[in-house]
Amino acid sequence: MRNAAVGEYVDPAIYSADQRAVFERSWHLVGPVARLTEPGSYVAEEIAGSKVLAIRSTDGLLRAFRNVCRHRGARLLPEGTGSCPGFIQCPYHHWLYADSGELRRTPWFGDDPTFNVADWPLDAITIDEWRGLVFVAIDPVESLASQLGGLTAELAEEPLESYTLHREERMIFDANWKIYVDNFIEGYHIPGIHPEFFQAIEFDKFETTARDGYVYMTAPPREGLFYRGVWLWMWPDWTLSLFANGFNTSRINPLSIDRTELVYHYYFADSVPLEEKERTVAGSIEVVRQDFEICLHTNRNYTSRAYRPGPLSPHHEQGVAYFQQRLAAARR
Ligand code: FES
Ligand SMILES: [Fe+2]
Repeated sequence: MRNAAVGEYVDPAIYSADQRAVFERSWHLVGPVARLTEPGSYVAEEIAGSKVLAIRSTDGLLRAFRNVCRHRGARLLPEGTGSCPGFIQCPYHHWLYADSGELRRTPWFGDDPTFNVADWPLDAITIDEWRGLVFVAIDPVESLASQLGGLTAELAEEPLESYTLHREERMIFDANWKIYVDNFIEGYHIPGIHPEFFQAIEFDKFETTARDGYVYMTAPPREGLFYRGVWLWMWPDWTLSLFANGFNTSRINPLSIDRTELVYHYYFADSVPLEEKERTVAGSIEVVRQDFEICLHTNRNYTSRAYRPGPLSPHHEQGVAYFQQRLAAARR
């Protein structure tokens, strides 16, 4: 098995094709449902450039929309979390939408007999929940359960919903999102890039398997490591790693062809002491940041077309091969 051709990472046509065929057609983690319990509470996010929002409407339903005004396309709500009970007002010309999506008022618009507010609701997208986590999809090819595949059984025994969100961290680096995914789904680089992490696991026992919808990586941790020794990546853009009494998730969000944002959420049991939570967050972020420089320079070698695809390790890189097969299948 060979690595993908560099066009996969540097060709603007492939980047655009992925925005449509991969990101618009799949489910994306937006965070814990605990952030969306109060009426009017919302989470607004970008997913590979598409602005979306998830909101708890005042009628109690969880809804999601494109974060795009139907008038002239302004962003309705700033990215992040907040509350707008009852109504969403566009900041541009003050069109007012109910939090269930209907357009209610268009102040100072003027008389137009052909214009009817009922024709201009927000564009609804799909939303679903799994184990206390909320996902949205713009135009999904499959249900959330189907996309999650074997993950549901994999984590059946893990009390995910008993953990509380402790911290969100966002990081940005300059490399194509697929270079970061390739890197995340192999442990082959741990000795080279993460020397302390290498010392903290039994690396000779590191195993990577591509499964139904996800890549499973495991290694026995040595004494004192905050990770429990299970790291998961799920198609197409999110990860989950286990701690002793908690876990983190990350979403890998392309900002442009060579710029990527990571959105990390850290969850813990309430019984975990604050100091331990902070130590775990700091340790995890340190490992994540160690990957940025190698990704950046790999990106440059791809952009300069100096690289021709090399062979993939049968032991360590079957996740990389699986990801590349999924990408190719999504674009067919
Ligand atoms: S773009 Fe929203 S009111 Fe004009
Ligand atoms: Fe790494």
